[in-house]
Amino acid sequence: MRRPPRIAVVVAALVALGVPLAALAASHERSASPSFERDVAPIMQAKCEGCHRLGGIAPFPFATRHDVSSWAPAIGVAVGSRAMPPWPPGERSPRYVGEETRRLSASERATILAWVRSGAHVDGPPLKPLPTPPVPVRAGESVVRVGMPATYHPTSRNGATDDYRCFLLDPKLTQNVFVTSARIEPGASRVVHHVILFKETPAQVAEAKRLDAASAGLGWPCFGGTGIGLEASGGGVEAALNDANWISAWAPGWGGGRLPDGNGVPLAAGSQIVMQVHYNLLNGRTPDRSQAVLTVAPTSAGLTPAQTMLLPAPVELACAKSEHGPLCNREAALQNLVSKYGANAGVAPAGLLLLCGKDAANPRPSVVTTCDRRIATPTKILVAAGHMHLLGASIRLTLNPGTPRARVLLDIPHWSFHWQNAYTLAKAVETKSGDVVRVTCHYDVGKRMHLGRAVARTPRYVLWGEGTTDEMCLGILQVTRG
Ligand code: HEC
Repeated sequence: MRRPPRIAVVVAALVALGVPLAALAASHERSASPSFERDVAPIMQAKCEGCHRLGGIAPFPFATRHDVSSWAPAIGVAVGSRAMPPWPPGERSPRYVGEETRRLSASERATILAWVRSGAHVDGPPLKPLPTPPVPVRAGESVVRVGMPATYHPTSRNGATDDYRCFLLDPKLTQNVFVTSARIEPGASRVVHHVILFKETPAQVAEAKRLDAASAGLGWPCFGGTGIGLEASGGGVEAALNDANWISAWAPGWGGGRLPDGNGVPLAAGSQIVMQVHYNLLNGRTPDRSQAVLTVAPTSAGLTPAQTMLLPAPVELACAKSEHGPLCNREAALQNLVSKYGANAGVAPAGLLLLCGKDAANPRPSVVTTCDRRIATPTKILVAAGHMHLLGASIRLTLNPGTPRARVLLDIPHWSFHWQNAYTLAKAVETKSGDVVRVTCHYDVGKRMHLGRAVARTPRYVLWGEGTTDEMCLGILQVTRG
């Protein structure tokens, strides 16, 4: 399925409103006519080229004079409407590390728009691709490269334009380490859209191997999650959710997630890594063999262990008023989940209602869902991320909502499954025991009609589940405790 065509919609809306491009550009007027070579090219190299380069994930490269000037009108719209460069967090979000290297400043935006308005002349030589920055290695750290064991040929059924695949990677660790940063070196950067890394204990590795063996070819299909259960620790569900198995998330052009200094994700000897890759098949089906490049510190470095806190909320989405069908019945939809994914999938919806203090015996459908978690021990929040599937409209993570100490940790006002990332807070947030973290998700069931032919549009009561037509509402926080 193609990502909702946000830019196309913006263009259509502007045209419908009779807003001429030039007027849009003029509203951001600055200097007369900037030079491409001197003023515009450096901005594009820094802020666009990570994705818009030869063989990159974006639909066209900004590599030649011709590329850049022929796309000028679209660049004017994409930059003027702030659709590009993509930056999902909204104005209510706090500041995040690296934000200024991903977003355009007002003056950069004005420069690009003034250049478009003045005719988009390209002086000087074609853009030369910037070299990939080296992996930042701190004193005492070493680099661990762990690659897919063979080449994978992205594929899809029913004409889908995305392939979500999990691969088990063995870093062959003989000692416990801390992971301090992780980035992906895509084998085929045209198709690798985003990647999430999970750490798996030996017991989970066995489950991963079963999933791998059950699926033809390298790896196994995984849309919303890895398909591997969380480690059932002695402390029950909440303990498992408070210390889950995330390492990091990566997307092209967005660098490598480095935890703030002094912190690291503990990775025990014998653990392995599941790399979940989203392939964008609109750019072809180039065979891929990607690598994860981790920096690790020995335990003697005495880093503070970063843990991952998962904040799921129940999903109970009724069919729209105009929709009808057998799966609009909750019980039938639940049975459908069980038949697709087994008995555990049938228990999750009630489990989540209970976890979040809702009435599991009388689930009430709603397009808004929330869940609160009380912080048990003083916790420092370093990184925030959100996860929903295709019907997601917005997601927000808030500390102490409804109190004078309320603070937004992450606010994504227009959710797109295709732009998932983790955001490192520019200033870590300290919490006290008794504080509350809330995840809130809004859904738009109407999105079902725009999912493209590869996703079943059969009306259904949507519950929490792994599949493309199931949903999740999941807040993810990387934290240190104590
Ligand atoms: C994080 C990756 C990324 C970055 C950074 C990025 N783009 Fe894009 N761009 C894309 C992708 C992917 C598309 C395809 C449409 C989509 O998925 O939104 C796209 C589409 C476009 C389009 C086509 C819009 C249309 O009409 O369909 C334009 C123009 C554009 N980008 C301009 C820019 C400019 C200018 C910058 C820098 C200021 C930039 N982009 C930065 C990934 C990126």
